[in-house]
Amino acid sequence: MRKVVITQKLPYELEDDFRGYQLVYNREDRQMDRADLLLSLRDADALISMLSDKIDRELIDAAPDLKIINNYAVGYNNIDVDYAKGKGILVCNTPHVLTETTAELAFALMISVARRIVEADKFTRMGNFVGWTPNLFLGTDLYRKRVGIYGFGRIGQAFARCCRGFEMDIVYTGNTRKYEAELNLGARFVDFDELVSSSDFIVVLAPLNEKTKHAFNLDTFKKMKKTAIFINAGRGPIVKESDLAYALKNGIIRGAGLDVYEYEPEISEELFDLDNVILLPHIGSASESTREEMAKLCINSVKNYLEKGIIPANVI
Ligand code: DGY
Repeated sequence: MRKVVITQKLPYELEDDFRGYQLVYNREDRQMDRADLLLSLRDADALISMLSDKIDRELIDAAPDLKIINNYAVGYNNIDVDYAKGKGILVCNTPHVLTETTAELAFALMISVARRIVEADKFTRMGNFVGWTPNLFLGTDLYRKRVGIYGFGRIGQAFARCCRGFEMDIVYTGNTRKYEAELNLGARFVDFDELVSSSDFIVVLAPLNEKTKHAFNLDTFKKMKKTAIFINAGRGPIVKESDLAYALKNGIIRGAGLDVYEYEPEISEELFDLDNVILLPHIGSASESTREEMAKLCINSVKNYLEKGIIPANVI
């Protein structure tokens, strides 16, 4: 009987899909214990992992029968992909289905920081709203401002589509020019320095790799406008978090919105004391329908590969 390990409870009833399989399913809404995971992988054929599971050499070596890993995320920096591939294991992710949802979250963060939505909500709940004044919670407009997108893949481009509604001036940077997207979205390619120094909003939607790690550090923040707003819905380690906290505290930039953290789930203490940053618990793809689609994608890839030998389209 084929064995599938799923490391965390998914928001989708999947038991029927795996009828006829040996299913090791962590039905709890918390990360699977590493020791349990190592043990259950000993004779497993497939693994559906979360972005919080570290799928390293030790784990891969502990799973001699493993044929496919499907990460329940589009990012896969938690997996030693080269090592897994070297062992003949297919590694898949969940692209496409979460594109719009993640872009919407990044946009929500951007507008919320710009218009100080969270601060204003706290203020109102505390009973501080005693009457309209011309000075209450003055924010920043998005309309016709420049937005610099770092990571102009599917999610970056979906984010750009949201920005079009506000007639924003869209610039992007990256390793490759996206000519078609430039044409469709009216986006302009600039180099990294121009992006950070000229944008009113800098939005990170890139994957984590050697090149992107710590791309945003104190030097980068110092190049930004004092009024700049920084958003990260990509991966935490792209930003040196202590430098960001320093920049926010010392007025080097105006504000930030974060969905991801350098040492997730740990968050730099200094950030908690700052009103000019919004902190979210990595919910980029967290809509009911998207999380369901992500689950279905993982299930289909695993079953098609194990049962019919079909290489999934979402293979990395
Ligand atoms: C992912 O799936 O990699 C993203 O972090 C979405 O939240």
